[in-house]
Amino acid sequence: MGMLIKNGTVVNATGSERADVLIEGERISVVGAGLDEIGHKVVDATGLLVMPGGIDMHTHLDMPFGGTTSADDYTTGTQAAAVGGTTTVIDFALQNQSSTLQDALDTWLKKSDNKACIDFSLHMAVTNLHGKNGEETLREMEAMVKFGITSFKLFMAYPNVLMINDELMFRVMQKSAELNALCCIHAENGSAIDIVVAQMLAEGKTEPHYHALSRSSKAEAEATHRAIALADMCGAAVYIVHLSNEYALDELKFMQQRGARALAETCTQYLVLSIEDQMPGKSWEEAKFVFTPPLREKRHQEPLWGALCDGSLAVVSTDHCPFRFADQKELGRGDFSKIPNGGPGVENRLQILWHFGVNAGRISPERFVELCCTNPAKIFGMGKKKGSIAPGLDADILLWDPKVEYIISAATQCMATDYNMFEGWTVRGNAVKVFSRGQLVVDNTAQPGKFLGETGRGRFIKREANAGGLA
Ligand code: URP
Ligand code: ZN
Ligand code: ZN
Repeated sequence: MGMLIKNGTVVNATGSERADVLIEGERISVVGAGLDEIGHKVVDATGLLVMPGGIDMHTHLDMPFGGTTSADDYTTGTQAAAVGGTTTVIDFALQNQSSTLQDALDTWLKKSDNKACIDFSLHMAVTNLHGKNGEETLREMEAMVKFGITSFKLFMAYPNVLMINDELMFRVMQKSAELNALCCIHAENGSAIDIVVAQMLAEGKTEPHYHALSRSSKAEAEATHRAIALADMCGAAVYIVHLSNEYALDELKFMQQRGARALAETCTQYLVLSIEDQMPGKSWEEAKFVFTPPLREKRHQEPLWGALCDGSLAVVSTDHCPFRFADQKELGRGDFSKIPNGGPGVENRLQILWHFGVNAGRISPERFVELCCTNPAKIFGMGKKKGSIAPGLDADILLWDPKVEYIISAATQCMATDYNMFEGWTVRGNAVKVFSRGQLVVDNTAQPGKFLGETGRGRFIKREANAGGLA
């Protein structure tokens, strides 16, 4: 007996059709009109859109950072993702500078063990190279790729903690090119930013607002150009994470037009939040919006939306890195540089992008699926398993009601923070039912906001090395 999703509209990146979807075991077996229901359990999707489960390729669960640890662990973080319609996350394992990539992998596998509730994968952040000319660590990159970790993260910001120099970046890029892996880049000029931060603090500018002013769009644009140029020199494929502003976008587009193998994402928050609205410099509450890159002036939002339409930006992720306001953000009261950087968002990505993207007429439902599901799967080497509604793929399926209204609030969310960045916003469009490998894990009509699967059921997904799908 299979499970038959009937009477819905199947939305893929390539188009939409009235079709039924048959799930057998953990996979989709048939997609077609008028499928026979005899012998199957039927799920009625009348009036609903049947979409692939979301893939958020940028989360930080249970991550030590800024003197504390991100508030969602693999259980609360993946449950929150599922409740919002996301069925796969790609999290980051961070190499400790004095240790190995294998150690980092072991640490993150332990964090997720018996805790992940949906499928997940990992990027490996390289923070130091060991051995002559970095050979030991570069060799470890081969082992990572064999294990299914096919993307490497490089931080150009956070001096003395995670920041790498150009030499390390170039060596990792050369090795990635050899391995057909993808380099994910946090692009901000960390050295220049740290000088500005110190100067601002010395002038008594300690409030959260100055965090945003200390990390200029130009510092991001410079690093974006440098990373893509270095990758271009050695034939590596790069993916710029959390691109936040028009200047960085200009550099990306310039290099893409010149044939560089460069992809990029933006995040929900940069599309709808701004310095003017969320961080005008009036209160400590603005610490809720301290993340890096910071919020930008409103005028940067439309160029980002434009880039989601013209294809220069390929993905919308969240950079979900949650810290509680009451006790964790508090660590930076009186010194914005000590506020743990990051915001919660994994639960609300699809609602926000649907409401402000699809409902506002900026993107089509098909492009929504492409940005949130299909492109992340293909770029990160799991397009044969996830990211589309097609026979043979995992039955990670989202039944989406485009008409239902939902009020976002920390009071009802699953994320472990005591605030929500979109508190009180009413959005139209929400996940109704969510299936992960064929199992109903969320039913927001019958049991709103509740994860129904067993804790720890999520599996590590091995990914292919495909250089971001770029030729
Ligand atoms: O503020 C942020 N984004 N925190 C998480 C780490 C990072 O840079 O992505
Ligand atoms: Zn980052
Ligand atoms: Zn991040």
